[in-house]
Amino acid sequence: MKTFTSVKQLGDLGEALTQAAAVKADPFADQAPGRNKTLLLVFFNNSLRTRLSTQKAALNLGMDVIVLDVNQGAWRLETGRGVVMDGDKSEHLLEAIPVMGSYCDLIGVRSFARFESREDDYNEVILNQFIQYSGRPVFSMEAATRHPLQTFADLITIEEHKTKARPKVVMTWAPHPKALPQAVPNSFVEGMAMGDYDFVIANPEGYDLAPEFVGNARVTHDQDEALRGADFVYAKNWASYTDYGKVLSKDLGWTVTKEKMALTDNAFFMHCLPVRRNMIVTDEVIEGPRSLVIPEAANRVVSAQTVLKRMLESL
Ligand code: CP
Repeated sequence: MKTFTSVKQLGDLGEALTQAAAVKADPFADQAPGRNKTLLLVFFNNSLRTRLSTQKAALNLGMDVIVLDVNQGAWRLETGRGVVMDGDKSEHLLEAIPVMGSYCDLIGVRSFARFESREDDYNEVILNQFIQYSGRPVFSMEAATRHPLQTFADLITIEEHKTKARPKVVMTWAPHPKALPQAVPNSFVEGMAMGDYDFVIANPEGYDLAPEFVGNARVTHDQDEALRGADFVYAKNWASYTDYGKVLSKDLGWTVTKEKMALTDNAFFMHCLPVRRNMIVTDEVIEGPRSLVIPEAANRVVSAQTVLKRMLESL
């Protein structure tokens, strides 16, 4: 695997899940491919889970890891071409990227949507520059439009907990005070299409995701109707795609509460974290016995290790 920017690049889901299960059963089984290999993790945005889980995954594989927080201690980077660099940005990304590539064997990049231009965000300008100019295999640690390592962890978690061959999975929008990217929901929709799930997206009007991601997925603007009979409730906020980057609603009527969960078939609750309690989900639901948020986050190591192993094998 030379790049990993979409969960679809895993190919056959059953095979990927089998590999993930093997990694989880014996995390230190296979350190030879990582020996004397260096992983560089480049963060343009904050992270807790991705930062720690990807490092842990690399260490399990015997790799060395370097972490760069672009906004802390590095030169401020210009990203636009043709810009006269007479301001406070000292280095251009197009020099920085190949320099970074010269210090490592694999690169992970976190670069969120900036909400300045939908076209730039949906063209993944930053991530694609790393792919084009680093000279190294590159994987996404959440880019503007997708978060594939999260989605793979979500799929692993659902498969570990499902009790029906074809569970009903509801991804519901929930309120948040700030504009959040569509990367997690877009990616989750891609993941749902890889397996056998009765999948429904519930969001208020004005929050439909990009048509190229929604595809044939069922979308409803009635959250209660979606939740009836659900086996998994995957909550997430995202900003509007059509009115790009705007917060059109903070309606707490969409918060996942005990009453909302009572509509389901004793569903598990999932969220990628970090989560705003009592905006997205109430304390009692996230702390309740059907909450999977901690095992879901723990599976981020399994997800990252499975992907890194495949990338190391193709070096
Ligand atoms: N879910 C997730 O990616 O968490 P972080 O933003 O903390 O890495």
